[in-house]
Amino acid sequence: MKLEELSITQIEERQLQLEKQYAAYKSAGLSLDLTRGKPGAEQLDLSNSLDGILQGFYLLQDGTDVRNYGGLTGIPEARKLGGLFMDLPAEEVMVGGNSSLTLMYNYIHFMMESVWLAESQVSNATIKFLCPVPGYDRHFTICDAFNIEMIPVDMLDDGPDMDQIERLIAQDASIKGIWCVPKYSNPTGVTYTSQVVERFAKLPTNAGNHFKIMWDNAYAVHDLNDQPDQLANLMDAAREAETTESIVMFASTSKVTFAGSGISFIGLSQDNLKAFETFLSASAIGPDKVNQLRHVRFLVDAAGIQAHMRKHRDIIGPKFEMVDNVLSQHLGGKGIARWTKPMGGYFVSLDTLPGLASTIITMAGDVGVKLTPAGATFPNGDDPRNQNIRIAPTFPSTQALRQALEVFVVCLELASIKQLLER
Ligand SMILES: Cc1ncc(COP(=O)(O)O)c(C=O)c1O
Repeated sequence: MKLEELSITQIEERQLQLEKQYAAYKSAGLSLDLTRGKPGAEQLDLSNSLDGILQGFYLLQDGTDVRNYGGLTGIPEARKLGGLFMDLPAEEVMVGGNSSLTLMYNYIHFMMESVWLAESQVSNATIKFLCPVPGYDRHFTICDAFNIEMIPVDMLDDGPDMDQIERLIAQDASIKGIWCVPKYSNPTGVTYTSQVVERFAKLPTNAGNHFKIMWDNAYAVHDLNDQPDQLANLMDAAREAETTESIVMFASTSKVTFAGSGISFIGLSQDNLKAFETFLSASAIGPDKVNQLRHVRFLVDAAGIQAHMRKHRDIIGPKFEMVDNVLSQHLGGKGIARWTKPMGGYFVSLDTLPGLASTIITMAGDVGVKLTPAGATFPNGDDPRNQNIRIAPTFPSTQALRQALEVFVVCLELASIKQLLER
């Protein structure tokens, strides 16, 4: 039954019950963490055979010794592997170090240095980026680092609000890019539909010069379901629309093998790739090719990636189920929260009643349950409705996850009741 349909006496009784539970949690000395989307140790163990997999064989077919300097675009075998993640030919893939985020940062740096800064000096306009919200906080941190102004746009069920995006872009040539997590979006779990991808391919046609679509496909192979979402190929659509110069794709093996010791990929038209390689050549002679080769030997091909990801799913699928079960059991039908049940990726996105996210997160923190800070999923940490909470279920043990969720639902209901009584 919806909370607001209960009588005042019923609500006050429920409040008392919840306060007792909350007090019990306070004295329990809990220390639980639902913040960052990290793989758990059991998931990391799946890739332990990366260690020693080369067994002393460091030579590529073309004779390259991966232990030596050189090869800034990555070894051919790893470029092909990256192509499987991003649905691209190997020639359009560069392989980086352990973080796609670093590639994103470097790419923005490259664009700033090569054209955006000069353009903004001429036009006397601040460089701007569109940011679908809720979104990935570290994308926003990159914009912050370069003083790029962020304009939030709404995420809908089929992807970002394309009407809003097209309107904004047509009006303002100083909008130089947009962040996208097109598959199992962080944190909403939405996969962009083919129609949305089509519209993205045409977007640069109406944008100002040097507009970039930052297509961060971090969850390309992270399915939690037998019928995985299918993401249309943006680069192919861009070839049709003649906009490939605007497409910048990313992926990595961070949540496939070792989060701190994987390999990353950037996908670009061949001309763009060449220019980016030249930019990077001032800061590096080459990437860690030994790790690239280890990943090629370990993951092998599309079937190898799929089989490996199935093992991840067996570990984290039940955790996602548990989130949905606990939330449904305690909050279902009460009209105080909505949450996602993602088909893949790493997060559950939950909306509280407007105005309550920060209170609930503080209440949970006070009894030892750490949640992602309120507003983190919005540019400048500002969730205008103060209602979005990102839950990351993969890292804690099943037992710790259950405990943390049970505390969380008590905080959420208690805060909702207090708000209701204050009305
Ligand atoms: C959307 C998204 N992109 C990128 C990353 C980080 O990727 P990497 O480890 O390759 O830097 C994450 C990690 O949570 C993410 O959620």
